[in-house]
Amino acid sequence: MKAIVVHEFGGPEVLKYEDTSRPEPKENEVLVRVIAAGVNPVDGAIRSGKYAKFFGSKPPFIPGYDIAGVVEKTGAKIDNHKPGDAVYAYLDLDRGGGYAEYAVATNREVSAKPKSLSFVEAAGVPLAALTAWQALIDAGKLSAGQTVLIHGGSGGVGSFAIQIAKARGAKVFATASTPNQDLLKQLRADVAIDYTKQKFEDIAKDVDVVLDSVGTDTLQRSYGVVKKGGFIVSLVARPDPAELEKHGIRGALLGVTPNSDELAEITKLIDDKKIKVLISQTFSLTDAAKAQEQAATGHTRGKIVLKVAEEPK
Ligand SMILES: NC(=O)c1ccc[n+]([C@@H]2O[C@H](COP(=O)([O-])OP(=O)(O)OC[C@H]3O[C@@H](n4cnc5c(N)ncnc54)[C@H](OP(=O)(O)O)[C@@H]3O)[C@@H](O)[C@H]2O)c1
Repeated sequence: MKAIVVHEFGGPEVLKYEDTSRPEPKENEVLVRVIAAGVNPVDGAIRSGKYAKFFGSKPPFIPGYDIAGVVEKTGAKIDNHKPGDAVYAYLDLDRGGGYAEYAVATNREVSAKPKSLSFVEAAGVPLAALTAWQALIDAGKLSAGQTVLIHGGSGGVGSFAIQIAKARGAKVFATASTPNQDLLKQLRADVAIDYTKQKFEDIAKDVDVVLDSVGTDTLQRSYGVVKKGGFIVSLVARPDPAELEKHGIRGALLGVTPNSDELAEITKLIDDKKIKVLISQTFSLTDAAKAQEQAATGHTRGKIVLKVAEEPK
């Protein structure tokens, strides 16, 4: 099969398009014919070797942690998916394999694809939407009537987070730069904040939960906007215990994990039209390097996806 293979850690130029052997599913895995693969900021970080120790990734490996495709073959212990089923998955960061014509996904990673989405749209969902879900619902315990501040609301995680919070019945403050203010409103944020012109702490006060995907100064200034007993969940930095204590709040650094049950909940929200998926750019598999360069800008609108094969009819 054709795939993008990393033979050595480095810049985007180490992504090589080549022939490699098709993986075989183990007993708890499905083999998926990949139609589209999502691209996330973490892909480039893993390619560079930054997380080599943490995830144990060793070249050669095939990157790619989001896939949408058609089940080709199932392992002996798989009884909930069969060949021909349309599925999507977030593949564990210590394994990946999504930038390829075929990839294996474990039972814990794979779920039925939303019927209302194309494969390209579906490939943009799993990692980012699961992150938003695990940050707001599992960690933040966000409930109806509560208030949440979502930093980076126009990006991959943020665009799902706004919609998941709204579906939960929360009031949403969201930040993005000037060109993305309209997008925040389209995603149904109650209050759109332009971080290039406004200080979010002057507008969002006494919130129950903050979702921080920016870190540094943004995280530092977020402690003071959370009400006593509230929660800060960061995707990029461990909240400072001294600041948490000082403000009487709690906090955590999230590491998203595959979860096919939660992905199925997300599928329902998508098919019920509670979540829209925004794909701002698609690239061919051979252009994986360009896609990762875009993902590394930190200013992507919605999601970037690699189109690996034609959409099945
Ligand atoms: N820990 C985990 O499990 C986990 C999971 C997923 C993602 N992440 C990390 O979380 C971060 C976000 O991921 P993503 O996929 O959502 O990235 P993304 O698609 O690139 O989105 C980033 C968003 O941040 C906004 N932004 C940039 N600077 C900002 C600032 N100073 N204040 C507010 N918003 C700002 C951008 O909006 P503008 O273009 O308008 O500036 C953009 O919409 C990345 O670092 C990623 O690696 C971690």
